[in-house]
Amino acid sequence: MLIKRLRGWELPERRATSESLYLNRRALVQAMGLGIAGAALPGLALADDKAADPSAHFYPAKRDDKFGTPGPITAERLATTYNNYYEFGTDKSIWRDAQALQIRPWTIKVSGMVEKPFEIGFDDLLAKMPLEERVYRHRCVETWSMIVPWSGFAMKALVEFCKPTGSAKYVVMQTLSKPSVMFGQKDFLYPWPYTEGLAIDEATNDLAFIATGLYGKPIGKQNGAPLRLVAPWKYGFKNVKAIVSVEFTDKRPVCFWEKLQSSEYGFWANVNPQVPHPRWSQATEKPLGSAERIPTQIYNGYGEFVAGLYTNRKSEKLFM
Ligand code: MTE
Repeated sequence: MLIKRLRGWELPERRATSESLYLNRRALVQAMGLGIAGAALPGLALADDKAADPSAHFYPAKRDDKFGTPGPITAERLATTYNNYYEFGTDKSIWRDAQALQIRPWTIKVSGMVEKPFEIGFDDLLAKMPLEERVYRHRCVETWSMIVPWSGFAMKALVEFCKPTGSAKYVVMQTLSKPSVMFGQKDFLYPWPYTEGLAIDEATNDLAFIATGLYGKPIGKQNGAPLRLVAPWKYGFKNVKAIVSVEFTDKRPVCFWEKLQSSEYGFWANVNPQVPHPRWSQATEKPLGSAERIPTQIYNGYGEFVAGLYTNRKSEKLFM
């Protein structure tokens, strides 16, 4: 993200999946009553081996479109083969290497300012959460973007489940530390493990989401399996993948990119086309699979849901 800007998004328009094609495929999978049937369909082979995934029966989840249904949906093959995941390398084509990550058993540690710290297995957590599907825009700080159907649960449900105390102001999430598989973590120039955070009022805003699925099936390892944050009004780097730790604190965390380069990346990182990155404009974006750039929207188009979070924070650097 910081150094290299590959132009892998410059793929022909014809490779983008239209929403109707995605919906038809989804209807077919649902009609068959077997999420697993999707594995035989074009473009689906890149995700986890669904037969081996104990959460496969949860998908596809019922779609909730209260935040709109932006379209057209990005081709699955693009969203699952063009990734940022520095633990597996600094270029975009890490999806094969990411398959080496073991995602079961998977334990999430809840700590800090909570009534009682605890650990919970991913499948136990998933069984307790209200699953749904949401189609969100995703805007990377590097200026590529996509529109994808995430499945998972509102971050608010996770926060409530963790029972933070009244003094908690931030929630901080961390990626697994496993340098033997995540070779990028051997590079001591980066402040591993990847850490990101939200203020509590952001985390409990309806829009904040924990994704456990993508394109109607368990999320692939390259996209952050088994669970990752999705805060679609912020630049994509906030969306920490492969979460193993959720900590509540009253101190604002200094997260991965801010630690690395505080002159370019901050805590709030809300999308704003009028505030350029120090090295490039944020005015437009390139949807994956499209040859054309399109205008970027403030809060990535979600201002009606989140702008109110920042009315009393105007003095802060909200857009970097
Ligand atoms: N999480 C971890 N652990 N490591 C990363 O390198 N990259 C971030 C974010 N989450 C990253 C991460 C960035 S810069 C982006 S744009 C998104 O993941 C990309 O998500 P995607 O690969 O699913 O599109």
